[in-house]
Amino acid sequence: MTQSPTPIHETVREHYAERIKSSASCCGPSDCCSTESKLYPVDLLATLPSDVSSTSYGCGDPITLAALKPGETVLDLGSGAGLDCLLAAQKVGPEGRVIGVDMTPEMIERAQANAKRVNAANVEFRQGYLEDLPVDSNTVNVIISNCVINLSPDKAKVFTEAFRVLAPGGKLAVSDIVTDGPLPEPVKQSLSAWAGCVAGAVEAKDYIGMMEAVGFTDISIKPVFFDKETVDSALADMELDVNEYPREDIYKAVYSAKITAYKPV
Ligand SMILES: C[S@@+](CC[C@H](N)C(=O)[O-])C[C@H]1O[C@@H](n2cnc3c(N)ncnc32)[C@H](O)[C@@H]1O
Repeated sequence: MTQSPTPIHETVREHYAERIKSSASCCGPSDCCSTESKLYPVDLLATLPSDVSSTSYGCGDPITLAALKPGETVLDLGSGAGLDCLLAAQKVGPEGRVIGVDMTPEMIERAQANAKRVNAANVEFRQGYLEDLPVDSNTVNVIISNCVINLSPDKAKVFTEAFRVLAPGGKLAVSDIVTDGPLPEPVKQSLSAWAGCVAGAVEAKDYIGMMEAVGFTDISIKPVFFDKETVDSALADMELDVNEYPREDIYKAVYSAKITAYKPV
């Protein structure tokens, strides 16, 4: 592993290790992104035990977005407790395989336990960094990810790595937080706001620019706006002085998006 952890990696890793140990849900302390039934179709989640399906730290539904087919090889960037990997495993079936990568050992342990519990034999979890993926080049049909790339301090490297491991013609289908305009400076400087999936979010046009720079084509970013209560809940856990900046700026700027892109054949 050549990626050395930065202070942002350490803060994010500690944040999510703590979250999974206390089993609090989502990016913030409680339902910051959404409740599970708002993120995924109810019948999709019903295929898993409720304690597995409710352990989500995501901000969208990359499974529906990815439209996975039997036999495909899927890579989940920042797999957390494994929910999207287990849903993907059902879609690709016994002929397919799913690899989850996450830097937080506590997440890997929980994901492995969840996979064992539901007898998912076509899923494996690897500890590693998105910026230095422990995955061979040109081997993956579909990359999924749920509320993770915004957390990386080096998103350009994440896209370089994603492009490397995708097979020609492969698809990226990601739910992530992006912004429409700049965030207030105090928010951008807050490590807790970074760990809470806000401060690290970049403008959609810059996100697209980074993907284009490494070779992705047919890039699409479709917004799924949060309501005020959801953003309030996310911000509640962040060590920010709410009087220091206009909260309205955040409501306007931050949103979850459905993002797709392709590696040319
Ligand atoms: C917001 S949680 C999302 C987890 C999962 N995708 C879900 O929807 O429940 C972010 C996850 O990404 C992992 N993560 C964040 N930055 C990472 C990086 N640079 N490399 C590897 N894993 C990372 C964290 O450890 C955490 O498990």
